[in-house]
Amino acid sequence: MAFHTVDLGAHIGTKILSDIPTLLSGKHASEIRQLLANRVVLVFPQLGMTDDEQIAFTKTLGTFKTEDSSNGEIFKISLDPKETDRADSLRASFYWHIDGTSSDVPLLASILSPRCLPAEGGDTQFCNTYAAYEELPKEDKALIAGLRVNHSPAVSARLLNPDMDYEHYRFLRTLAKDLPLVWLHRDGRKSLILGSTTEYVVGWGPEESRDLLVRLQDWATQPRFVYQHKWSMGDLVIWDNTGAMHRAVHYEADSGRLMHRTQLEGEEAFLNHIVEPA
Ligand SMILES: [Fe+2]
Repeated sequence: MAFHTVDLGAHIGTKILSDIPTLLSGKHASEIRQLLANRVVLVFPQLGMTDDEQIAFTKTLGTFKTEDSSNGEIFKISLDPKETDRADSLRASFYWHIDGTSSDVPLLASILSPRCLPAEGGDTQFCNTYAAYEELPKEDKALIAGLRVNHSPAVSARLLNPDMDYEHYRFLRTLAKDLPLVWLHRDGRKSLILGSTTEYVVGWGPEESRDLLVRLQDWATQPRFVYQHKWSMGDLVIWDNTGAMHRAVHYEADSGRLMHRTQLEGEEAFLNHIVEPA
């Protein structure tokens, strides 16, 4: 059975050369999970899995997360309202984010494969938030230990619609959560929790909050922590949502870009452990 790995960058990304029967057998599932934890993004080039195969492969890796949508077990990602009733809010995917910051237990991983690709744009970028934390200067690690950040879907929604009505804004604010800036995981590793849902650092003023959050996001998204995937039909990419931010590179809403997504249920709460102030 074929199973070969090739690292893509020093800090992030591994390409796995395999075939569908090998992957569906589950024989390498624990190795894939370990690679996912260590490399954050795994690329399976030009496999050509069907929806059913993608679902079956996802189930070999953990607990399958049923999508909260009318599309059954596959979630369609598109900016075309004819494809999904979420097209409007999916424009938020152009900004760096972590999925599920309104949940206590964010999803573990997402798996994407294209069904139609745009003529221009539409790559997906990922940054390794474990490596970004590890490489922070020690003064910054001391500065941010113990800090919490308020995350709210109202922030990213406001990026898309600054004129949203008050009722909608209040609803989104009810989903806000204070999350640790540094996530101490059960395996002892630490990652940064950042992205377009960050509202403010708890207890800090607006200017110093934004200054720190912008500076840390700029740090975490430096090229050495980033892998950018240029999609080919048949590709399948999985990323560790607990150790990465991701975003889509701009593409036009009418470009036809259509991705099919499956997900793995989270296994670890944001608040499992608290990093004590230095
Ligand atoms: Fe996302």
